[in-house]
Amino acid sequence: MSQGGRRLRLAPSLLSADFAALGDAIEAAEAAGADAFHLDVMDGHFVPNISFGPALVAAVRSRTKRPLDVHLMIEEPLRYLEAFRKAGGDTLVFHVESRSDPAEVLREARRLGVAVGAAIRPNTPFSAVEPFLDRLDQVLVMSVHPGFSGQKFSPDVLPKVRTARERLDATGQPADISIDGGITEETAVEAAEAGATFFVCGNSAFVGAPIGENLRRLRASVEKGAARAVR
Ligand code: DX5
Ligand code: ZN
Repeated sequence: MSQGGRRLRLAPSLLSADFAALGDAIEAAEAAGADAFHLDVMDGHFVPNISFGPALVAAVRSRTKRPLDVHLMIEEPLRYLEAFRKAGGDTLVFHVESRSDPAEVLREARRLGVAVGAAIRPNTPFSAVEPFLDRLDQVLVMSVHPGFSGQKFSPDVLPKVRTARERLDATGQPADISIDGGITEETAVEAAEAGATFFVCGNSAFVGAPIGENLRRLRASVEKGAARAVR
């Protein structure tokens, strides 16, 4: 099933995987039907946590051909786009609240020939991405405060997903709407119904049950939500 010309995709977030056995986690996720991988880069400034940088993205790249969705929770995305592109990132997602100028980030992404996404924190309005929506391959709506996996989904962000869906549908632009944070079997239905097409799953993919079972349930949820959306 699809929405706005985009297939519904599940992207396990490696932040919730066992870092000591990342290769195995990637292999299991692929076998379970992961459509892409989400990689959370944190610098200890933009968010309180520190995760990993380009070297780890390159290591993941060497183990999978699936698209790598690199979520840059860092103060200066502009400075690092090239490094993450060279590391093998397919989509580089920057935060509009960071210190980099969105127009410059978009120019740099175009120069590098890489797909680009803009992310907004739960408290940032949709209007923050609207001026350059037509140049984006992805809008990432955060449904938790960025920095940690395993937090609770905030339904308050769903109106932003709906607005993004309306705007993209109005122009026929096939950008992804990504939802990130607290996606579970239940919240995936709501997010899909609101119009999301790209579902980041951390704990819901890697914790609790084998990933095959987890992704099967999440897949059923997004299909159910999208079927409810009347468009
Ligand atoms: C949080 C990250 C998320 C995180 C999601 O700051 O951006 O991608 O890995 O983890 P869950 O799905 O467990 O909330
Ligand atoms: Zn993320």
